[in-house]
Amino acid sequence: MRRPMVAGNWKMHGTCASVAELIGGLKQQSLPADVDVAVFPSALHLAQAVSGFAGAVAVGAQNCAYEPQQGALTGEVAAIQLLDAGCSLVLVGHSERRLLLGESDELVVRKFAAAQSVGLTPVLCVGETLAQREAGETLAVVAEQVAAVIEALGVKVFANALVAYEPVWAIGTGLTASPEQAQQVHEAIRAQFARLDASLAGELRILYGGSVKAASAAELFGMPDIDGGLVGGASLNADDFGAICRAAGS
Ligand code: PGA
Repeated sequence: MRRPMVAGNWKMHGTCASVAELIGGLKQQSLPADVDVAVFPSALHLAQAVSGFAGAVAVGAQNCAYEPQQGALTGEVAAIQLLDAGCSLVLVGHSERRLLLGESDELVVRKFAAAQSVGLTPVLCVGETLAQREAGETLAVVAEQVAAVIEALGVKVFANALVAYEPVWAIGTGLTASPEQAQQVHEAIRAQFARLDASLAGELRILYGGSVKAASAAELFGMPDIDGGLVGGASLNADDFGAICRAAGS
C-alpha cells in the first residue's frame, strides 16, 4: 500500500508574519496519521517552517542548485544547505521554472541528482501545456520528461523520489483535471516505470497537482494511481489545506 502525501507549494508567497500565521493555523488542524504532510515555503522561510513545525510536518524547498555542495554560485541554494536547514524534500522541474525560467530537462536532471546525492528526496514535477493537450501530446510529453531522468540516472533513483503530475493548464487557473483525465496520465506514468521495474512502480508515489481544492480532493485522491496532491493556492489557507490532507486519509 502506498502512503499518500499531501504537499503544499507556497510558491513566492509569504512574509515572516503571514508564514507564522499559516504555521500556527496548520498546527491547529487535525492532520490524518496515515498521510505524509509536507510544505514547500520560499527559501527565505524554510528555517521558520522547520522550527515552527518541529517535525510535525515535513519541510521541502521549491528548488535547489545544480551543484549539491557549497560553492561560488551567487543567488543559488545548495542541496547540502537545504539539508542543513532541516529540509527533507525538494521540488525539481516545476512547470513555472521550466516555462518561465527556462529550465531544461538537462538542468532538471542535474538538480534531481544533486538533491539525492545529499539525501534529499526529489519530487519530479511533470506536465503538459494546454496546446500540447489539445494536440494530443499529453502522454508523450509527460513520458519524455520522466524518461529524461530515467535515462540519465537510471530507474532505481525513483526508489527515493516522488513524481508530481501537474498539467500546466490546471495550475493556478481554477481548472482541475477531471479525476479520469488525471488517472489516465498517472496510470501511464506508472506503466512507464513498470516496464523497467515492476516492484518500484508499485511503490512509487505519484501526486496530482493543479487547482486541487478541498471540494475536488477526495475524488482525485480516490483514483487508483493518484497517491495524494501537490497543492498551490489552497495550501495558503490552513483550513483548506487541512481539509485536503484529511481527504487523502482513509
Ligand atoms: P495550484 O498550484 O494548486 O495553485 O494550481 C499547484 C502547483 O503549481 O504546485
